[in-house]
Amino acid sequence: MRKNALPSLLVAGIAAAAFTTSTQAFAYGAGDFFTRVGVAKVEPKSDNGTIANGTLDVDVQDDSAFAFTLGYRFTDKLGVELLAAEPFDHGITLDAGGGTEIGASTDHLPPTLTVQYYPLGGTDARVQPYAGIGINYTTFSDEEIDGGGDLELDDSWGAAGQVGVDLLIDDNWALNAAAWYLDIDTDVKLGPDDLGEVEIDPVVVMAGVSYRF
Ligand code: NI
Repeated sequence: MRKNALPSLLVAGIAAAAFTTSTQAFAYGAGDFFTRVGVAKVEPKSDNGTIANGTLDVDVQDDSAFAFTLGYRFTDKLGVELLAAEPFDHGITLDAGGGTEIGASTDHLPPTLTVQYYPLGGTDARVQPYAGIGINYTTFSDEEIDGGGDLELDDSWGAAGQVGVDLLIDDNWALNAAAWYLDIDTDVKLGPDDLGEVEIDPVVVMAGVSYRF
């Protein structure tokens, strides 16, 4: 879904903008508070590494959930945005080789704060791209593993990057597509044993609407 949803939304939006003959300019910039609401898919990187001295190959699976952001534009071109969401629930497969797989799962919340640059902010452009960099904090909960061991994933702090685009509809509403890269690495413990670090490092893709006020 990640590979298709974002481009097709962008194409649809750009086409919609191109077919609009109105030359009305919409204020888009300094002083705007905004919220973006949509469905986000968290897609961990394909190779999540190994734990337990290389004996368990880790695969963290995708999940989608409702997500929203809150933000503010300090100037026409600079803003800040906080990504929030309901908890994501990821299946995890631990492959011990020889056809032995252990199932596990975890919930997580990955709030992410980015400082953003809007190159066309303050202009009449109805297609408003942006990019941001910032920080991610991820907390894990409800970790479960087949056999009922005490699985624990440590909280993670890491860098975040973001790109997105608003396709302005009117003075308040826009279609939005956005993607984040989050550096999420977590230390895995099973009971008293430290099994090592798992790299989740997902891309988060969100499609929805923006509302600014
Ligand atoms: Ni990482």
